[in-house]
Amino acid sequence: MMAVVTAVPPEDTPRWLEPWSLDEGADRARALFADAFEGEPEAIASAPGRLTIVGDHTDYSGGLTLATVTAHRTFVAARRRDDQAIRVVATRSELVDGPGPRWEGALDALEPGHPGWPSRVAGVLWALAERGYPITGVDLAIDSCVPLGTGLGSSVALGAAVGRAADAVWGLALDTEAGGVELAEACWEAENTYVGFPCGRLDPHTVLRCGDGEAALLDFSEIPPFVTRYPLYFHEYGLRLLLIDTGARREGWRDAYARRSRAAVRAAAVLGLPSLRSLKPHEALARVDALEDTPTRIRARHIVSESMRVRDTIAELSGLGPAHDRFTRIGALMLESHRSLSADYRVSTAELDLAVDSAVAAGALGARMAGAGFGGCVVALVRTGALEQVAERVVADFAAQGYARPAFLQV
Ligand code: GLA
Repeated sequence: MMAVVTAVPPEDTPRWLEPWSLDEGADRARALFADAFEGEPEAIASAPGRLTIVGDHTDYSGGLTLATVTAHRTFVAARRRDDQAIRVVATRSELVDGPGPRWEGALDALEPGHPGWPSRVAGVLWALAERGYPITGVDLAIDSCVPLGTGLGSSVALGAAVGRAADAVWGLALDTEAGGVELAEACWEAENTYVGFPCGRLDPHTVLRCGDGEAALLDFSEIPPFVTRYPLYFHEYGLRLLLIDTGARREGWRDAYARRSRAAVRAAAVLGLPSLRSLKPHEALARVDALEDTPTRIRARHIVSESMRVRDTIAELSGLGPAHDRFTRIGALMLESHRSLSADYRVSTAELDLAVDSAVAAGALGARMAGAGFGGCVVALVRTGALEQVAERVVADFAAQGYARPAFLQV
């Protein structure tokens, strides 16, 4: 008999995390379902992760973000029940807090605040029931290739996929433009009220309202945010968004996130405004630079300047000038965004800074941390032909610093 040899890339070569195809993801969820609950699911739904191109830590201040979705998705197989029981089985439960791979509860007994990964599933069902949708018990099987803890919104991919599965089995008519808004708001409520993590609306409104190959401009001055979609045509011009998963996640990041969103509210209050977004663009920087308290001033400066970079990025994306110049400028804006998140907003880490610097040194047009920060992932704008060389340089620089080997994804 022939031995099966699994190719393990040597330590000094980049490790690429390939997404599953829609069929593969659906097959996996179906197989998990059959194994756990017997029989066939009624529906299989999925949702992607979220990738910020420019515009982080702006959503809770009424600012702007330009974001897209990952090819990596979370898949949910679902079947309605006649009673109130909720039975959930999930892979990768050993990597997150919670009761292990299986959880059971009851729809009419759900209470906000229960811990661990099941709260992300139960929270969305709870939020839909609270909004009056006629749902009952359900069996759910969940599998995912969205990397965990990378700042790519693995939690929202889970919640959104559960919401879409609920829509499919109960026919809630949420697969429309308005339905996407409604479901995103339900997911936001689930995260804020049920899970109990106060966060902005960026993640659910991207994941549920931005399509593959699109970039979504989210304007958080309105609730729910207003979304304008643009074609994301980097591929046509021989460019890719390279994601560098540093693998690092700092303990206590949620408290640090909450402190920053409180600082944003404080800065607006000191300026006598409902939110920092109320500042007029021509005076915004001068007014925040006049704030006396240094931490408040530098945090506010990031928030205000980041929305300006989003506007400038959109202008380049939709501009008519030579493509090379526009992409170079977008790369520079990404780099400015990173410097601001690192120096002013203080949400970067040594690993993220190194990934940005080595990607740019190896030829990336620009790079920045993506998401909440405190570890996680960097996104770099890279020519397709230079992907391998950029990844190799990052791996070598991480090894030289004694950091864990990073992993790579593409959009
Ligand atoms: C997390 C939050 C979002 C947003 C980002 C930073 O992903 O969930 O609401 O604030 O951080 O842009």
